[in-house]
Amino acid sequence: MAYNLLKGKKGIIFGALNDKSIAWKVAERAHEEGAQFVLTNAPIAMRMGSMNELSEKCNAEIIPADATNLEDLDHLVEKSMEILGGKLDFVLHSIGMSPNVRKGIEYDELKYEYYHKTLDVSAFSLHKILSTARKKDALNDWASVVALTYVAAQRTFVGYNDMADAKAILESIARSFGYIYGREKKIRINTVSQSPTLTTAGSGIAGFDKLEDFADRMSPLGNATADECADYCVTLFSDLTKKVTMQNLFHDGGFSSMGMSLRAIQQYEKSFEDCPPVGDDIPFDEKDVERFR
Ligand SMILES: NC(=O)c1ccc[n+]([C@@H]2O[C@H](COP(=O)([O-])OP(=O)(O)OC[C@H]3O[C@@H](n4cnc5c(N)ncnc54)[C@H](O)[C@@H]3O)[C@@H](O)[C@H]2O)c1
Repeated sequence: MAYNLLKGKKGIIFGALNDKSIAWKVAERAHEEGAQFVLTNAPIAMRMGSMNELSEKCNAEIIPADATNLEDLDHLVEKSMEILGGKLDFVLHSIGMSPNVRKGIEYDELKYEYYHKTLDVSAFSLHKILSTARKKDALNDWASVVALTYVAAQRTFVGYNDMADAKAILESIARSFGYIYGREKKIRINTVSQSPTLTTAGSGIAGFDKLEDFADRMSPLGNATADECADYCVTLFSDLTKKVTMQNLFHDGGFSSMGMSLRAIQQYEKSFEDCPPVGDDIPFDEKDVERFR
C-alpha cells in the first residue's frame, strides 16, 4: 500500500544491481511513494546487472559512477540535480564489496591491497558522497541519507571478514557527518543494520545460508526481508522521522538484542544427547572414543 510519503522528494539511489538487491526494493518502494530519483551503480554493474528494467519501471535515469571515484561522484551529483530539476532530499548508500571475501582470503591473512579496496568501496565511499554533495550544496534542508550496514560492525561473525571493519567505519562516518550536516542544514544521516538477506553481496559471505538460518531462528520476529528493509528506508526518507539522526538502527527482527533463545537451548540439548556430560570423560572403551571424537 502506498501513502504518498515521498511525494515531491528527489534523490539518488546507489547499489541496485538486480531484483534481489536491497537498493532495487528501495527504488520500487520509493517510486510507489511518489519519489523521483536517479539510479547509479559502478560502470561494471551496468554489464552484470539488470538496471535497465528498474530504470523503466521507476521512470528513473541511470548515471554510472564508481562510488570511490571523486570525478564520477562530482558528475553524478551535478547531473542528478540537472535531471531532477533541483537539490536532493534523500540518498541511499547500498554499496558493499570485499575482494578478500570474494577470493576466500581469511581475516588473519588479509591481502592489504584488497583490504584498502574493501574499505574504500564499502565505507569511504559514503564519506566521498557526503563530502561531494556538501561542496555542491546538493542536499536540501531536512534531507535524509541512509546507508546499509550489518551487526558484524559491533560483534564478531565468522566469515564476515574485513567487511566487519568496513561497516564499523561506515557507521562512524554516518555519525561524524551526521553532526556536521545536522548542525548546518538539519540533514539527517543514519545507518540501517539489516538481517542477512539473500542478495549477490550477501551470498558471497562464507556459510551465508547457515548464518541466515541461525539469525532467523534466533530473532523473535524472524529475519527482515529486503522488501521490509525498503519499507523502513522509505520511512527514514519521509518527513515522519525528521528528528532521527546519527543512529545505527537495527532492522533485524530483534536478533541484535538476543542472547539465548528457548529454541537454541532445546537445540543445544539435543546436540549433546549423544555426548557425555562435560567433565564426564572417564572410562570409554575404544568404540566410545571413536563415537565422541
Ligand atoms: N545481503 C545482506 O545480507 C546484507 C545484510 C546487511 C547489510 N547489507 C548491505 O546492504 C548493502 C547492499 O547490498 P545487497 O545485499 O543488496 O547486495 P548487492 O550485491 O545487490 O548490492 C551491492 C552493490 O554495491 C555495488 N558496488 C560495488 N562496488 C561499487 C562501486 N565501486 N561503486 C558503486 N557501487 C558499487 C554493486 O554493484 C551492487 O549493486 C551493502 O552495503 C551490504 O553490505 C547486506
